Order: sequence, then C-alpha cells, then structure tokens
Amino acid sequence: MEFIDVIKARTSVREYSEKQVEEEKIIYVLECARLAPSSANKQCWRFIVIQNKVTIEQIAKTTIINRWLKTTPVLIVACADPTDSGTVNSIEYYTVDVSIALEHIILAATNLGLGTCWVAEFNEEKLKELLEVPKRIRIVALTPLGYLVDKKGITEQITKTLLKSNKRKTLDEIVHHEQW
Ligand SMILES: Cc1cc2nc3c(=O)[nH]c(=O)nc-3n(C[C@H](O)[C@H](O)[C@H](O)COP(=O)(O)O)c2cc1C
Repeated sequence: MEFIDVIKARTSVREYSEKQVEEEKIIYVLECARLAPSSANKQCWRFIVIQNKVTIEQIAKTTIINRWLKTTPVLIVACADPTDSGTVNSIEYYTVDVSIALEHIILAATNLGLGTCWVAEFNEEKLKELLEVPKRIRIVALTPLGYLVDKKGITEQITKTLLKSNKRKTLDEIVHHEQW
C-alpha cells in the first residue's frame, strides 16, 4: 500500500474474526515497534503479546467500555519502564516513546490487512496483577490485533456513530503559520 493509503485505511476496529493471526505477522509488527525512535534512544518500551483466549477474556472484563476486546485473537499490552526513559520540560517521555512504537505496530498491522484499536481505558492495577507485571513498569495502552469480520457488528456501529470517528478537524483549525 502507498503510505497515505495505510494512514487512510487505519481505523479503530472493535470486533474481530476468529481467524488466527500468523506468527510471522505478529513478529513483523513487533519488529516495526523495535525500530521506532525514542527519547535518548533508551527504548523503554516492553510488550506483552497475549494469545491465550482465557487471559484475553479476563482482561476484557477489567474494562468498562472495552468488553468487546474479548473477540480479539491477539492482544498487545504496551508497557514502559519509566526508569529507562527521560523527562524534558517536565514531560515524562515514556508515554511518548511507547506511543510512537505502538503507532508503528498499528500502521504496520494496517498494511498487513489486520485491524487494531488504541485502547487506554483499562484497570492498570488489575491488569498488572493478572499479567504479573513488575511494580515499576507502567501499562500505557493496549491494542487488539486480528482480522476483521465481514459485517460490522452493533458495537462497532454505535461506537463509530457516537465518536463521529471519521470526522477530523481541518488543517485551518490545527495549524498556525510562523506564529500562534
Ligand atoms: C490514546 C487513545 C486512547 C483510546 N482509547 C480507546 C478506548 O479505550 N476504547 C476505544 O474503543 N477506543 C479508544 N481509542 C480510539 C479512538 O476512539 C479513535 O481513534 C477515534 O475515535 C478516531 O477513530 P478512528 O481510530 O476509527 O479513526 C483511543 C485512541 C487513542 C489515540
């Protein structure tokens, strides 16, 4: 796909087919994360790849609005070791580092015809306990990874309508030239 077509094709997918994701595709998207830039090249990101159906169901239950996660065949938990990143102008860059890497995963997955969705609503404490994540590590976001279903389900239709998710601000609304 042309790069702009990957950008345009990416959309939040909230329902997945039962079809398994090929192992080489999982490795490919993780490799794309590995190559991301990071603050002082510290690479504070850590990923947990979950394919166990029971664990995925347990994680879905720790959320309020993201119960639909239970349909995904793969769940990637994007974590950070904040002690392995930097703070500049009072901005803690570990969330930025992990977000860049996760977006690499998301765009790489789109290019392979796989669906994803940024997920930030989850219970970090419960998730850390369930996945035996060390205390110092933060969980920044999750993404499902899987094939799309043929017909969009009701969750997807309602969410897209509520979020007006295809609507974006115009360049005039977000860009200043020379000065604010
Ligand atoms: C940081 C972040 C957190 C998000 N958290 C959630 C979430 O918890 N659940 C969800 O269904 N979508 C979540 N989204 C997806 C957004 O709702 C979605 O990207 C937005 O509505 C635009 O739609 P699109 O991704 O289909 O273009 C999140 C997106 C971002 C970037």
